[in-house]
Amino acid sequence: MDLYERLSKHKEFILSQFKFDRPEVGIILGTGLGGVADEIKSAVKIPYKDIQGFPVSTVKGHEGMLIGGELKGKKVCAMRGRFHYYEGYDMSEVTYGAKLLCFLGINTLIVSNAAGGLNPQFSRGDIMIITDHINFFSEHPLRGPNDERLGPRFPDMCNTYDKDLVKLTENIALDIGIKVRKGVYFGLQGPTFETSAEYRMIKTLGADAVGMSTVPEVIVARWMGVKVVGLSIISDLGLPDALEPINHELVLAAAGEASPKLSKLVVKIVERL
Ligand code: HPA
Repeated sequence: MDLYERLSKHKEFILSQFKFDRPEVGIILGTGLGGVADEIKSAVKIPYKDIQGFPVSTVKGHEGMLIGGELKGKKVCAMRGRFHYYEGYDMSEVTYGAKLLCFLGINTLIVSNAAGGLNPQFSRGDIMIITDHINFFSEHPLRGPNDERLGPRFPDMCNTYDKDLVKLTENIALDIGIKVRKGVYFGLQGPTFETSAEYRMIKTLGADAVGMSTVPEVIVARWMGVKVVGLSIISDLGLPDALEPINHELVLAAAGEASPKLSKLVVKIVERL
């Protein structure tokens, strides 16, 4: 089955379960955005394992699911549980969920992640609006034959993180009293955190934050013509000259602390889209 056929089959199945025929907004509930799922009204939840041919999550105790419902009067489809390249998935599987959200007909995709901060002005727990990215993954998600029905062979990456939506997000943050940073996200495969020399290199290359997700999903969304809003929780600081040990628990703890304000911000963004 080719990609188009697979997407079409899944679209038919998913829309037969949801209470609407087209979601307007897609949300990938990355680290720190789980709380948004609870705000979705009249939610229909479809576990990934019930979607035949959908990638299956390798993380124990975290059942991935699609959630379709209403958020602040908008029809949304959220993915709870994403697929990382470091888990061993091919790029086609890492990005399949994002492709499906776009294929369902969303206009805007909101993505979040936890990231290491490189900008010396950043603090742990800050929220960064992603203004651009640097793709440092070893495999490109659009490598291979291109289906022109989904997007162009050579996609433009000029306004990848929509400038108007960056502005909107900044204004909302100001209105609701949440301090936000702006910056460039550097995406790489992990799963190791970076050495001091690598943090220095990434900073030199022009990034403000670094993480192991988001970039592949954003690339396919832009390929498919969908606008993107990206948000990072700065979970640790990759300061090359004062690097401290980091582990997943510390990342999760920082993300958990920042999560309520990030969720609040995302709900407001959806309301004002
Ligand atoms: N590096 C890469 N990925 C991350 C980091 C980091 O410092 N923090 C959270 N995700």
